[in-house]
Amino acid sequence: MKVLVTGAAGFIGFHLIKALLKIELPNENYFIVGVDNINDYYDVALKKARLKILSEISDPEVFTFIKLDLADREAMSELFSTYQFDIVINLGAQAGVRYSIENPNAYIDSNVVGFVNILEGCRHHDIKHLIYASSSSVYGMNIKQPFTTSDCVDFPISLYAATKKSNELMAHSYSHLYNIPTTGLRFFTVYGPYGRPDMAYFSFTKKILAGEPIDVFNNGNMQRDFTYIDDIVNGIIRIINKAPSPQYSTITTAAAPYKIYNIGNNQPVTLRRFITAIEDACGKKAQENLLPMQAGDVPITYADIDELVEDIGFKPETSIEEGIKQFVDWYRQYYSV
Ligand SMILES: NC(=O)c1ccc[n+]([C@@H]2O[C@H](COP(=O)([O-])OP(=O)(O)OC[C@H]3O[C@@H](n4cnc5c(N)ncnc54)[C@H](O)[C@@H]3O)[C@@H](O)[C@H]2O)c1
Repeated sequence: MKVLVTGAAGFIGFHLIKALLKIELPNENYFIVGVDNINDYYDVALKKARLKILSEISDPEVFTFIKLDLADREAMSELFSTYQFDIVINLGAQAGVRYSIENPNAYIDSNVVGFVNILEGCRHHDIKHLIYASSSSVYGMNIKQPFTTSDCVDFPISLYAATKKSNELMAHSYSHLYNIPTTGLRFFTVYGPYGRPDMAYFSFTKKILAGEPIDVFNNGNMQRDFTYIDDIVNGIIRIINKAPSPQYSTITTAAAPYKIYNIGNNQPVTLRRFITAIEDACGKKAQENLLPMQAGDVPITYADIDELVEDIGFKPETSIEEGIKQFVDWYRQYYSV
């Protein structure tokens, strides 16, 4: 089975490939191609460290890495022609809500132009299943909780969220027109070892260990459905062989092998409990700098995962305390602090 994983040097892509390389399937062998443009949105050394691990635990017959930009139409077309993938897992994207205010074009290039290039590759090469990352941010400031995939998501409050929703719309059109099975996964705040330096759990840990104050937005009145990386990876792996068949929704008669799932812990955690978990794992108290809400941020995310449980038989299990301890242990070892 030939698998393309984009965003291979990224947090989730790295963990997914690492897990796929360990799986032994009875009748199948994986050949995994990882691509990434290794951009400098955050520490490039961390991206390279992830790739180094992948190259150390694999051999060239099962995994190869190619530095490539998803927005490069010709390079993408050549990639698909060369490898004739069975499965495509698109985790490469410009992530982050706040940065989309500073650098909107990065989101259009990677998440919109890049995603069209992925869809075109799938269209011309008979892909069995395209799985792609969407995000809980598509729910914006929706009032109804928990967030369900049938909820209206027409009100994004950041360009990042708008690009993720566009991915779902574009995927639907390709699923319908070309019968490409696509599954979009709305991830809810993913965290864990080798995680992203732009996210709060990472910067809070760094600052608490260094004795520096942390910025607590919306005066701490926020809740997030934090999801541990191993749970996300498990969910993705179980979905690989569950390509959707054409469905009719109650709204449209357009048949499309198209599906969207939430993958979240189904258990929102208050910012207070989150900070306490980091303090306990660090063995140090935080100094807090209370600030107002930031543009683009949402007060709460809470995933309804009934469909995931029903179709895939899977539910994330890791508590915030367990997961944060894993992260802080990794952080202290990796940065020798
Ligand atoms: N981590 C989370 O909490 C979270 C939550 C919701 C959704 N997501 C989505 O999950 C996916 C993976 O996120 P992540 O946390 O691993 O982020 P990440 O930034 O660590 O990984 C994304 C990778 O994609 C690469 N990339 C970006 N633009 C590219 C381009 N044009 N061409 C090639 N490579 C490119 C980056 O260099 C990076 O290594 C993204 O789509 C993200 O939006 C993540």
